[in-house]
Amino acid sequence: MRIDGLTVVYKTPAGELPAVRGIDLTLEPGSITGIVGESGSGKSTLALSLLNAVQPPGRIAAGRVEIDGLGDVVGLAGEQLRKARGRHIGYVFQAAQNSLNPLKTVGKQLLDLGRSHGVEDLRGLVREAKDLLGRMGLDGARVLDSHQHELSGGMRQRVGIMLALVLNAHLVVLDEPTTALDMITQANILKIVREVHAERGLTTLVITHDIGVVAEVADRLAVMYGGRLVEQGPTREVLGAPRHPYTKGLIRAIPRLVGDIDEAQALPGRPPTLATVPKEGCVFRERCALRMDVCDTVDPQAVADGPRTVACHAVTVTVKEHA
Ligand SMILES: Nc1ncnc2c1ncn2[C@@H]1O[C@H](COP(=O)(O)OP(=O)(O)OP(=O)(O)O)[C@@H](O)[C@H]1O
Ligand code: SF4
Ligand SMILES: [Mg+2]
Repeated sequence: MRIDGLTVVYKTPAGELPAVRGIDLTLEPGSITGIVGESGSGKSTLALSLLNAVQPPGRIAAGRVEIDGLGDVVGLAGEQLRKARGRHIGYVFQAAQNSLNPLKTVGKQLLDLGRSHGVEDLRGLVREAKDLLGRMGLDGARVLDSHQHELSGGMRQRVGIMLALVLNAHLVVLDEPTTALDMITQANILKIVREVHAERGLTTLVITHDIGVVAEVADRLAVMYGGRLVEQGPTREVLGAPRHPYTKGLIRAIPRLVGDIDEAQALPGRPPTLATVPKEGCVFRERCALRMDVCDTVDPQAVADGPRTVACHAVTVTVKEHA
């Protein structure tokens, strides 16, 4: 999947404002990419646009989302688009625990999903669903016979993951897949996501506000702030030697990653909202210790350095000096 210059806007009383702006990102076949960012940074909006599923008052204002074998998703509509969802892209919505139909059993919804995508072997589909649920520590037969209200939040979240994987899509997008889970269940689920990913040779995108989750599963890591991608690269390199001041701040704030709880420092200030995100210059400047004059007027462009990309005036200067 190649995302090129993607911009998504929401209509607000102050006009159309971008929640995602000028994003370029490539998901390499067979890799797990993690997207991390604070609440409101645009992660779910980006995820929805990969399925061309942004709802009004939102719309994709610019850019392309190319999927191998499918073309530009932004141009798809109607039946073509419906087929692409599920068959090509398996998707777990954020708050998957609330997205089930309360009136139907999970099994009935599974069969509906299969039929709507033309699955002929429905028994095989049920077998596959039970197997996936079993791997995630659930009694598959019982879960398929249950209604949403009979399942805990954590169980519903696992049902969401099962539904995303069961149609055998080769591209899987998981938006906050483990938010309602305790630490041990979370670790177990992430292990299964990794295993299924490897078994099936999937291309997977994991979206989370929890940098610990992406540290655990992702090969590549992309960091979002105020609708922009500020840094991306191999997970180990980005976490081990972050370059963007925001990534540095995020990592410093996490005791688990810093190693010593006394050394963890919260990032001062708050992330911007659609209304307060700067229209020109760097989106991070209000919270940045390295801010320079140019940061107020010129939006830093993503500059590649080997497998890593950073969008920051201070870093660009250093990269050029080394070159
Ligand atoms: N339907 C909508 N109408 C107007 N603004 C919206 C709408 N949906 C999202 N936004 C705004 O777009 C921005 C990005 O929201 P989004 O849900 O994509 O962020 P997120 O990174 O997924 O956050 P979270 O971690 O809380 O899930 C936010 O400022 C949000 O308020
Ligand atoms: S561009 Fe400027 S304000 Fe933005 S992160 Fe870099 S130094 Fe800070
Ligand atoms: Mg979200």
